[in-house]
Amino acid sequence: MTKKTLRVGIVGAGFSARFHWHAIQKVHGTNPEVIGVYALDAAQAAAYASERGVRAYDSLHGLIDDVDVVHACVLVAGHEEVAVAALERGKCVILEKPMTGYCGDGSEAFHGDTFPKVDALRFGLASVERILEAERKSAGRLCYAEN
Ligand SMILES: NC(=O)c1ccc[n+]([C@@H]2O[C@H](COP(=O)([O-])OP(=O)(O)OC[C@H]3O[C@@H](n4cnc5c(N)ncnc54)[C@H](O)[C@@H]3O)[C@@H](O)[C@H]2O)c1
Repeated sequence: MTKKTLRVGIVGAGFSARFHWHAIQKVHGTNPEVIGVYALDAAQAAAYASERGVRAYDSLHGLIDDVDVVHACVLVAGHEEVAVAALERGKCVILEKPMTGYCGDGSEAFHGDTFPKVDALRFGLASVERILEAERKSAGRLCYAEN
């Protein structure tokens, strides 16, 4: 039986992007083909791409447009941006853990130990709700990666 080929894009080129690459090599039910990578750290994305013979993209949307499935291997502060962008384009997204945490807006000023827990819960849940709302309107699906 011919296996369906799925075009895969990886967002983020750090620690978790490396083990997502290895996990993708072990998929056997379909034929995943990694097309490329995009990361805020362009030098890291370029190195990741050249080591694996894939393309380094210079825009998130450019990568998303070229693939069927997006692996969101970015810091928690970037989860919503990547997931919603993929879902709005009708693509599936695999979101690296944790989905329900709140780790600030990505700024250096955020400190989880002193940030009010009630606000962290509220912001985290609101972000998850926006991602789920994007999924409800999308032909794509939200999936979750945990080890
Ligand atoms: N499953 C596990 O055991 C495990 C282990 C470590 C980390 N993680 C999770 O993996 C995710 C990423 O962590 P990491 O350790 O790979 O981080 P990392 O710092 O090693 O790599 C993050 C990468 O994402 C890029 N990036 C960050 N924000 C971005 C954005 N908004 N758009 C595009 N690129 C962006 C950075 O340039 C970098 O290439 C986190 O959600 C973390 O919780 C899971």
